Amino acid sequence: MRLFDTHAHYVSGAFNADRDEVVAALPERGVTRTVCPGDDLDASARAVELAAKYPHVYAAVGVHPEECEGWGAEMMEAVRALARKPKVVAIGEIGLDYHWPNNPPRELQKRAFHDQLALAGELGLPAIVHDREAHGDSLAVVREHPGVRGVFHCYSGSAEDAKTLLRLGWYLSFTGVITYKNARKALEVIQAVPLERIMVETDSPYLTPEPYRGRRNDSGYVHLVAEKIAQVKGLTVEEVAEATYQNALAFFAISE
Ligand code: NI
Repeated sequence: MRLFDTHAHYVSGAFNADRDEVVAALPERGVTRTVCPGDDLDASARAVELAAKYPHVYAAVGVHPEECEGWGAEMMEAVRALARKPKVVAIGEIGLDYHWPNNPPRELQKRAFHDQLALAGELGLPAIVHDREAHGDSLAVVREHPGVRGVFHCYSGSAEDAKTLLRLGWYLSFTGVITYKNARKALEVIQAVPLERIMVETDSPYLTPEPYRGRRNDSGYVHLVAEKIAQVKGLTVEEVAEATYQNALAFFAISE
């Protein structure tokens, strides 16, 4: 069984003490590919470097809504330059986050999201979207970019919005959150969505699946996400692992 962790922040400070050890060991632990997203320009540049170092690591570059203070033409050009580096397979993570009251203003978040979706379209790259408590606005921005495909990572919206995203050609990915006690809504979405549009991720170092919740997360736990999806859909974990692996190869346009 092989797994593709489509979202793990290995440039996070949480891995400063043992980054190389953890990342180098992933293939032995069954995780033969992973995408490291950026959340600001510095992290995006470091994701590109990490991808250059490890054959099984790919990078996404972009500015996260929580980090979009100062967004404008200059930052946009910096993302564009990073996006042209080798092994950059997506623009992300980008999106909207209305959870924290001290986040950048919503209008600025929307502008950064719009601009980066347009960039994804221009470069022919998929987008990795973070949508926290901003479902209506996130979907509205996505609808304005019909030529762009993407994934809503750590999907937390309704089954109805999920169906809208699927009609638009988008994917959904799920984290260890689906193993938590309060995950009923996400499990209903998983039941409603065809496996062909689902990917698995850890969002490491965050969101460690049960029964390890509270520990630092890494891609070695992503099989627990696949197991939960298998349980909900009445499939084997091997079937879910391989289907989500193939989905990720197609989504990121990675050849075997
Ligand atoms: Ni993330």
